[in-house]
Amino acid sequence: MDVGQMMRANEQNWDTRTPVHVASAFYAQDPSYWFSPYEWDDLGDVDGRSLLHLQCHIGADTVEFARRGAHVTGVDISASSLEQARRIASGHGVDISYVHANVYDVELPSSSFDIVYTAKGSLCYLPDLPRWASLIQSWLKPGGVLYVAEFHPLLNAFGPAPKPDQSEELLVRHDYLEGRGAQRKDSGHTYTDGPALSGATVSYEWAHGLGEVITAVASAGLRVTTVRESSELPWPRWSRMVRNERGWWELPADEPRVPLFYALRAVKD
Ligand SMILES: C[S@@+](CC[C@H](N)C(=O)[O-])C[C@H]1O[C@@H](n2cnc3c(N)ncnc32)[C@H](O)[C@@H]1O
Repeated sequence: MDVGQMMRANEQNWDTRTPVHVASAFYAQDPSYWFSPYEWDDLGDVDGRSLLHLQCHIGADTVEFARRGAHVTGVDISASSLEQARRIASGHGVDISYVHANVYDVELPSSSFDIVYTAKGSLCYLPDLPRWASLIQSWLKPGGVLYVAEFHPLLNAFGPAPKPDQSEELLVRHDYLEGRGAQRKDSGHTYTDGPALSGATVSYEWAHGLGEVITAVASAGLRVTTVRESSELPWPRWSRMVRNERGWWELPADEPRVPLFYALRAVKD
């Protein structure tokens, strides 16, 4: 199977996940929930800015940019996701332009966005980060900002293992670095609450180490200004995670502090 076929399998898988996601409690949060305060510090005031949200899914978080006054374009490979994204945006009374396309094929005017944003489970669906970064470089205006807010590759590398006392510990069980190619996943359930998937269950993911992401962005000619690493997640990846004061999730305080999330800001000079 070639990479194009794998991305088409992902398209079908995301079409299948969409109705479950739309009906879930997971995605019923206020759009502001999905952002850490430091994201707004890093992005600055988005009012009046042209913002491109890549891999926006059902637009659960995209709406927040429009509520804050940005002129927003969302791109996603899943037509079902965008059908729901349009409905959700309309429910919030905001106007967002949604484009159905693969990020590698989408036709967008060059040098036309103040901000390109991508987040929370997006990069793992991209087989070629240097090409992705170079496309973003072409879409940004001079002075424009790329912002990536993603699950840390260490989070993806960890897996729980049972201990003799019935508790569990985290071990490195999966690749942190890229290089092994696509990982085939076949799961009858998605990551939200809700029923089993009814349709395409196979998806393909690509691991990307943090250094590999930063190098792809820098090699495309973007100047990296910030790389934050954080121990918080918007949902509990493992059962023993505890909710913190602002409603996100962390490992218990007596466990090692490790990064589970990161945010990268880069500028087109
Ligand atoms: C986990 S979601 C994105 C995160 C989003 N912030 C959320 O949680 O709602 C991943 C999205 O990437 C999209 N996607 C995967 N591969 C893509 C590609 N090559 N081009 C465009 N969108 C893609 C999927 O359709 C899906 O909507």
